[in-house]
Amino acid sequence: MHVRTAPRRKKPFRSIAGSLLLLPHCWTPEQSSPEFICFSRLLGPTQGGHIGQRSEVCIFSRESTVNGMLTIRRPDDWHLHLRDGAIMKAVLPETVRHFARAIIMPNLVPPVVTGADATAYRERIVALLPDGADFEPLMTLYLTEETDPEDVAAAGESGLVKAVKLYPAGATTNSASGVRDVTRIQAVLEKMAEVGLPLCVHGEVTDPAVDIFDREAAFIDRVLDPIRRATPDLRVILEHITTRDGIEYVKAQNSDMGGTITAHHLAINRNHILAGGIRPHYYCLPVAKREEHRLALVSAATSGDPHFFLGTDSAPHTDRNKEQECGCAGCFTATNAISVLAELFEKEGALSRLEGFVSLHGPAFYGLRANEDTVTLAKGAPVSYPEKIMTPDGPITVFNPGFPLHWSVSRHDLNGETPTQG
Ligand code: DOR
Ligand code: ZN
Repeated sequence: MHVRTAPRRKKPFRSIAGSLLLLPHCWTPEQSSPEFICFSRLLGPTQGGHIGQRSEVCIFSRESTVNGMLTIRRPDDWHLHLRDGAIMKAVLPETVRHFARAIIMPNLVPPVVTGADATAYRERIVALLPDGADFEPLMTLYLTEETDPEDVAAAGESGLVKAVKLYPAGATTNSASGVRDVTRIQAVLEKMAEVGLPLCVHGEVTDPAVDIFDREAAFIDRVLDPIRRATPDLRVILEHITTRDGIEYVKAQNSDMGGTITAHHLAINRNHILAGGIRPHYYCLPVAKREEHRLALVSAATSGDPHFFLGTDSAPHTDRNKEQECGCAGCFTATNAISVLAELFEKEGALSRLEGFVSLHGPAFYGLRANEDTVTLAKGAPVSYPEKIMTPDGPITVFNPGFPLHWSVSRHDLNGETPTQG
């Protein structure tokens, strides 16, 4: 067990279910930290809770449950790979069908390193959006040891870039330009803390002596906690958490620390990848761990703790690149992530907390408003979704959770009227 706490005083989240009993409405400015949440489930699913940012914003949950239908604010994806060109064109509709915004990962070849790179990539994304889509790509920069702190600050302050991504060099897909020695990025991290730009972290060490199943826990000890101690005002997100260690570390931190959890890590453990044959479409990084770790993720995601929010890490690779001697890491979940989550949250008796996980905690962490529009989830006969998404480069297999999905997701149009199924 690796439980670590940074030394500074924990700024408590103000919100956790129950706290609203002590609070008639929003917090006074003195009580609020910039990202506080006053979101509560104790009001019950049909009455909603409210969520706040910087005291002047108080946003009510839009969740309501009627006859097997659950309406929630439209979700966001706080960790998404879109790639570029033809693949991006093929996968974008899968995300914009359900999600209003997504944090776009910068691990292209070459990576999105500068503000100018991010501007150009954003333009390419917007150009390929399906007609009529209302979707906002939230751009990130890929941190290298040569990254210029002033360029990062300018990109953050202009609103172009919402986060900077730390890939340990060699940890995952297209991470060769990542960071080998974190002391060499200290000036950038300090600048980010100064301008309030969060750091998204791929939390795995690359030391070949560390077993792949222990790499997240080792990263927390060797890299993440030292970063937190060296730059205490930096806002940090431990991405795609896969272990109890990661959950416990994030939970013990103040509200400057968040953690994303994917739909696939909530659905599968390492047996799904390896028992009875090797299943390349379940292989991703960080690799899924033992069942006890999956249970810790499920417990955190469904707990209502605002440290945790959805980042799908939906990572398209063609079947050709997955199904080979050395296959690529990544699960493509954009198509059915929300249905998978609804199934899992329902099983935990936690459907009333789904909106927090997919639509409220993420914007609160990033200091953004929750979406105004809603989606409706309806329970019925198992929903069908395509097994594969076709692209000019070949098919991409959609994540198969291994259990039937009963929740369909409908989007309302901008007038809140005609639902469109998906
Ligand atoms: O499984 C993964 N795929 N993990 C990552 O960190 C990167 C991603 C990708 O880009 O394919
Ligand atoms: Zn990723």
